[in-house]
Amino acid sequence: MEPEIETAAQKLRGAGAVVALTGAGISVESGIPPFRGKGGLWETIDPMEFAHIDRFLEDPGKVWEVLIKGMKETLDPARPNAGHLSLARLEAMGKLQTIITQNVDGLHQAAGSTDVIEFHGNFAWQRCTKCGWRVETARVDLSVLPPRCSCGGVLRPECVFYGEMIPSHHLVRSQSLSASCDLMMVIGTSAEVQPAATMPVIAKHNGATVIEINPESTQLTLHVSDIFIRGGAGEVLSAVVDRLEELL
Ligand code: APR
Repeated sequence: MEPEIETAAQKLRGAGAVVALTGAGISVESGIPPFRGKGGLWETIDPMEFAHIDRFLEDPGKVWEVLIKGMKETLDPARPNAGHLSLARLEAMGKLQTIITQNVDGLHQAAGSTDVIEFHGNFAWQRCTKCGWRVETARVDLSVLPPRCSCGGVLRPECVFYGEMIPSHHLVRSQSLSASCDLMMVIGTSAEVQPAATMPVIAKHNGATVIEINPESTQLTLHVSDIFIRGGAGEVLSAVVDRLEELL
């Protein structure tokens, strides 16, 4: 067994409050491309052109055509992978309190995790920009774009667009949990987007152990992470939780 897997399992065994921060990388093994790096969505679509709230309000039909329709087609068939399932196991073992996820795919909840902060909102629901009426994304008819509410208002996903605030209750709770945890697992994020990428810094600054899992190093790796496990989330998390189960 890799020494980092053993160390991570030992640290989890001794930890009290454990929090995870996850990014698009944990869902790659579910068939959802990441945003950055090889095969990243932003390698072909400019997020400032198509994922910014001002651009959406200017031309919602174009954003639905170029970005949102494709997201629905990618997310609809996606199912939790071993990475999501391992975090749900960790919660069931009483060794993971909360997941702060940047993802909007709902796969942590689908895997059985019960305390998930959707830092960037979620794609499961659409909201009318005029009257606020909500409908599940799965029920939205995409034959005409942009889809509209019966009041005539344009529907938008309940995700946080660039140019929008993080929902304040999610931001405040995430900051508080990051400041009070003993251990933070940082899984599958490039740590390039704020304020999510500040959570590991807050955790570290308050004395927590930071364990980073990623096939690539990030700007956290040398400066914030105490343990860096190079690899895919599914394989690494399965190995860590299997070893922890042996230790408990
Ligand atoms: N397991 C773990 N990590 C992986 C895997 C894998 N199988 N495959 C790729 N990764 C890593 C990549 O190395 C990269 O560091 O996942 C990370 C994905 O980075 P991004 O695509 O930037 O995703 P994320 O960090 O979640 O982006 C943050 O940016 O555009 C916004 O709203 C969007 O929530 C997103 C935010």
